[in-house]
Amino acid sequence: MADDKHDPTYLQPFNQAHRANKSDGSPAAPFDGASKLLFEQAMAQTRMAVVLTDPNLPDDPIVFCNQAFQDLTGYEASEIVGRNCRFLQGADTDQEQVEKIRQAIREEDVVVVEILNYRKDGTRFWNTLHLGPIYDENGTLKYFFGSQWDVTDIHQSRAEEHHAKAMAREVSHRLKNVFSVIGGIVNITGRSMDARAVAKRINERVQALGRSYEPTLDEAALGTIGVGQAIRAVLAPYDPEGNRVKYRGNGIRTEPNAISAIGLTLHELATNATKYGALSNDTGQVELAWEHARDKVGRTTIEIDWRETGGPRIDGPPERTGTGFNIAETLLSHSRGVLETDWTPEGLHARIILPIANR
Ligand SMILES: Cc1cc2nc3c(=O)[nH]c(=O)nc-3n(C[C@H](O)[C@H](O)[C@H](O)COP(=O)(O)O)c2cc1C
Repeated sequence: MADDKHDPTYLQPFNQAHRANKSDGSPAAPFDGASKLLFEQAMAQTRMAVVLTDPNLPDDPIVFCNQAFQDLTGYEASEIVGRNCRFLQGADTDQEQVEKIRQAIREEDVVVVEILNYRKDGTRFWNTLHLGPIYDENGTLKYFFGSQWDVTDIHQSRAEEHHAKAMAREVSHRLKNVFSVIGGIVNITGRSMDARAVAKRINERVQALGRSYEPTLDEAALGTIGVGQAIRAVLAPYDPEGNRVKYRGNGIRTEPNAISAIGLTLHELATNATKYGALSNDTGQVELAWEHARDKVGRTTIEIDWRETGGPRIDGPPERTGTGFNIAETLLSHSRGVLETDWTPEGLHARIILPIANR
């Protein structure tokens, strides 16, 4: 652009292109107040790197770059003007993206690509490059306009998220294997020690624990797990037709550790219901609701409400509630949670109350 410095008309093509490029084809609001001075000041002030190239010169060299472009790339204007922009590319630049640019230039089209570029000092950055043609008032191609935005941070966090998801899938896969290996060990040990019934009970609990994590591990990369998803997964085997357990809850989430206690407690409640309660006949129902609440000392809690109806009539609490409930209570107490039980004549009404951290 150095040659044009004294030519007050050199900005006309820029204005014209602005009009021609409006996406619906209609002219943009005419803005005839633009001047070389205005253009230079605007380009100097914007934090967006900008270049103009001249496709009428051999190899489409850069004829203008602003300060932001020099700051982004580490080159001085004198090292930039006159070169084709490909000097920013390097060994790991994706040729598919370069081809998209080539095609856009050939077809005089607007394109946005995310491309790996290199600074003068060799460091790499992800560049969201937006380029398009600029025409003069006769419709003749005069320049290409390019703007570059450093999106390395966004790219990095996207890559990390992707990696975390892949890891979570891998962990989920391994965890499933671990649970099935544990199941095998428990069965074999039970058989060899003549304790099949005990082994079966242990196994059911281990598998319930596995199920409570299974569908949610992908999301664990986010740091929390959906309570509803875990609840449904644990209880699915107890309601194969899907009409005995009713779920009512919103999308609350909790830290993964809380899921063990919730999963195992629900498993015990469901086992009990299958043997003695609402799921032991053909018509009983379990209603499950979960929500955030506050306990007596003002802590935020997750409350899971379990209400059985339609099962055999109950004449008060059972004399012994068995090991299952003990396991559940112990696990809950590790997370400062409680299991409240109310053995009403219609069926068991239980509440799992678990304080949650960081709220
Ligand atoms: C206005 C304009 C700006 C460009 N900016 C960049 C850029 O910032 N980074 C990049 O890698 N390529 C950029 N390019 C693309 C290259 O200059 C070149 O067109 C591309 O590498 C395809 O052509 P080639 O096959 O001749 O290399 C830009 C092209 C134009 C027209």
